This record gives sequence, structure tokens and C-alpha cells, in this order.
Amino acid sequence: MTTGAPVRVGVVGAGYVGLTTGACLASLGHDVICADIDVARVERLRTGDIPIVEAGLAEVVAEGLSSGRLRFEIGAPAAATNTDVVFLCVPTPQGADGGADLRYIETAAAQIGPVLDAGALVVNKSTVPVGSTRAVEDVLQRPDVAVVSNPEFLREGTAVYDFLHPDRVVIGADDRAAGERLAELYAGLDAPILITDPASAETIKYAANGFLAMKISFVNAIAAMCEAVGANVDDVVEGIGADNRIGTAFLKPGPGWGGSCFPKDSRALVKIAADYGYDFTMMKGVIDVNDEQKRRMVAKVRRAVGLAPGRGLGGAVVAVLGLTFKAGTDDLRDSPSVTMVNSLLASGATVRAYDPTVGVEPVDDKAEALRGVELVGSVNEAVKGARVLVIATEWPEFASIDLAEIATLMAADAVVVDTRNLLDPVAVRAAGLGYDGVGRS
Ligand code: UDX
Ligand code: UDX
Repeated sequence: MTTGAPVRVGVVGAGYVGLTTGACLASLGHDVICADIDVARVERLRTGDIPIVEAGLAEVVAEGLSSGRLRFEIGAPAAATNTDVVFLCVPTPQGADGGADLRYIETAAAQIGPVLDAGALVVNKSTVPVGSTRAVEDVLQRPDVAVVSNPEFLREGTAVYDFLHPDRVVIGADDRAAGERLAELYAGLDAPILITDPASAETIKYAANGFLAMKISFVNAIAAMCEAVGANVDDVVEGIGADNRIGTAFLKPGPGWGGSCFPKDSRALVKIAADYGYDFTMMKGVIDVNDEQKRRMVAKVRRAVGLAPGRGLGGAVVAVLGLTFKAGTDDLRDSPSVTMVNSLLASGATVRAYDPTVGVEPVDDKAEALRGVELVGSVNEAVKGARVLVIATEWPEFASIDLAEIATLMAADAVVVDTRNLLDPVAVRAAGLGYDGVGRS
């Protein structure tokens, strides 16, 4: 890969974003120190053991370790010692008021401030409210250090690809020279680089995620309409997508959008707008449609079991295939499947679930999120005796399940609720199962 001049880079936070960023920058030829407070995580990473599911990441990390261009250290100061450019990639979870909680960013900034080399560049990659680039400057207390914003557009599951083949790189800098210095780091990528002021860069990140969430809520609302009027959403999307002005990307109906970004970023967008006196009713509607979509999926399960609204699901066995918020990741954060599963459990259903990345004995947060769910290790174990089979995540292996065998394992008159429109309704019905998709009348 072609590169600009190698730069000494530090990355604070070795999670989905930081680890991908660090490993990919090493693959572009830079010397990278990736630091994290989680000692166990750092020790695993030093041996090339990747703690998350992310296609291609193990390969770029292994390449970085063997070339010596990628090292893992404990604690934020290690990323800021003898480095020229330091990326902040720590979480910005949703705070109690709906806005982003900046405590990790502020802690990281306070820790690196005293050790940064003279004239270093600090890059904020975490998603932060408009104005946070300046807040980081205030915490750093280093007038000789420029702070720039450089939002990430990495989809989990394709993050390495997205990093190395971006549609664009966005840099927000008050000081044009500082922005250009960061742009140099990306010289090995074939992508347009847009340098703006920090507030615009920060807004671009929220606007991009808000717009994508809006597209999905729109198609989910159209799917609900299709069910009411007897239309087929697959045909509708094909028909509108053929219009170049619309296209088909991010118009796949589903159980609602989830993950570590869309839910918190859409709420943060509403909160930021409100803080500045703008009532962003459109974004509120996008969020409402998404909440409603998850409830609609649960209502489909109730209908499949044959229950009127308000009556419990007591005793019914519901098999759920897929728990992650989408395929290609092990991430359960704000997963519509987890919301659905918990709602079914609260209504008295027995939920048996299988997900290829979750396994039967999850730990920590995952165990907590899935309390009460019977986790099994295969599709066939999940469906045994079940009244309803919910396809909740579009894992490719679920597209080729043996429907005839599944029909023999499930209870009589069983129904498939396909929240991802992954299966062919004709084939499902031919196997003797009922079928209910999203917007497929
Ligand atoms: C990111 C972002 O940075 C967030 O703003 C964005 O909107 C979504 O993606 P992500 O990489 O998904 O976060 O988070 P996660 O996978 O939880 O990783 C964060 C890492 O930072 C963890 O490994 C954690 O141990 C580490 N961390 C956290 C620190 O090193 N220091 C801290 O103070 C807090
Ligand atoms: C998102 C952004 O796309 C990425 O640029 C970055 O800002 C981080 O946040 P990610 O959360 O990994 O990436 O997943 P994404 O592929 O965007 O999907 C988000 C959610 O929308 C998932 O729950 C997914 O299943 C859902 N989705 C996506 C649909 O329901 N239909 C679609 O057509 C696309």
C-alpha cells in the first residue's frame, strides 16, 4: 500500500473503533501505539488474540505485530509518550439526559495532557457533541497542541474495509495547517479529504448517522403501510431504488436499527438541537418509528402464537435466531433482538436462542443482557418444540436453514416471523410452516 511519510501515532481506547484505527494506520506504514485501560484486553492483543468479531482485523493486527509497527500498552499516557498524533477513541455512551456522556474523553484528555510531546496533534475520533473539540482543548491545557475532529464512519463487521476504502475522510480543524497534517496520515488512501471547521465536522457525523437512521425508519414505516394495503415492500424498494436520486442503500426493512451508534447518536442529535433552541421533530419521529418497529415485531410473535393483545405468552416456546444488532459482529449493544427477547420473556414466553457469536455461556454485559434466555448451540436445538421461530439477525447461515427438518422439529402449526426478510416465503410455506415477514403481504 502506498503511504505518506511514517508518523508516530498513539491511539487511546482499543475497542471497535480504536483497534481498527490503530491496526489500519499501522498497515498504512505508521508506527502505532494502541493503549487501553483494560489490562486483560491489552495482554490478549499483544499475542494477536482479537477480543471482538470483526472481519479482517486479526490479519491487520498480526501484520502490525510482526512488522513491529503496532504495539499495545496499558493506560492513555502510553499512547501520548513519544508520539506525534494521538487519537481519542474512547466510548461516549448516552448520558442520563439523552446527550453524550463525555467523562471518558475528558479523563483521557486529562491523562495525556502532561505527557504529550511539544507540538503534538490530538485527534478526536469519538462521536461527541458539537463544541467538544474545544472542550478537549480546555482539558488538555496545552496551547502548543492542536486538537482536531476526525469522525469515524466505520460499520461494525466491515470496519477494516471501511477504514481502508472510505467514501471520504472528514477533518474538522480551526488551524488549517493542523488539518493538513492529519490529512497527510491518510495519504495512502484513495479518498477525498474534506477539511472543515470543528463544529461542521462534528455535525457531519451526527447528520450522517441521523440520515441513515431516517432512511431505515422510512422503509420500516413503508413496510407497515405495505402490510396494511396489501403491497410488497421488496418490490416497492426495488421500484423506488431504481431512481438514482433515491438508490437502494440502507433501505432494507428489519426489526429496527440498533448498535452502538444510531440509537445514541439520534438521541444526541435531538438533545444537541434542543440545547441550541431547535426542536428537531423529524428526528424524534425517526426514533419513535424505530421504537414502534420493535413493538411491531413482538406483536407479530403474539399473533403467531394466537394471542390477543394484552394476553400473556405464558408457556409458549419462542425460538430466536440471532441476537447481535446485525450480522458480522458480536455486538449486542442496543440490539433490537435483545429488546424483543426481553419483551417476550416479560410476557411469559420461554425464549430459546442461538447466535453464532454469542455461544451458550456469555460473560459480563452479555450475560446480563440475556438473563432468562435459554442459549443453545445450534439452530435445531433452538427450534425444538417451538411455536414460533423468529429470524432476528441476518446471519448468512440462517438463510440456508433446512426448512423441512425444522418443520419436523417445531410444534404443530408453527410460524416463522422473519424480521429480516431473509427467507423465501414460498419455500417456508411449502415446508408446512406459517410465514410472516416485514412488509411482505
Ligand atoms: C466508539 C466511539 O469512540 C464512540 O464515540 C462511537 O460513537 C462508537 O464507537 P467503541 O470503539 O465502539 O466506541 O467502544 P468500545 O468497543 O467500547 O471500546 C472502547 C475501548 O476504550 C475499550 O476497550 C475500553 O477499555 C477503552 N477505554 C475506555 C479506555 O481505554 N479508557 C477509558 O477511559 C475508557
Ligand atoms: C453505523 C454507521 O453506519 C457507521 O458509519 C458508523 O458511524 C458507526 O455506526 P453500525 O452501527 O456498525 O455503523 O451499523 P450499520 O451497518 O450502520 O447498521 C445499523 C443498524 O441499522 C443495524 O441494526 C442494522 O441491522 C440496521 N439496518 C441497516 C437496517 O435495518 N436496514 C438497512 O438497510 C441497514
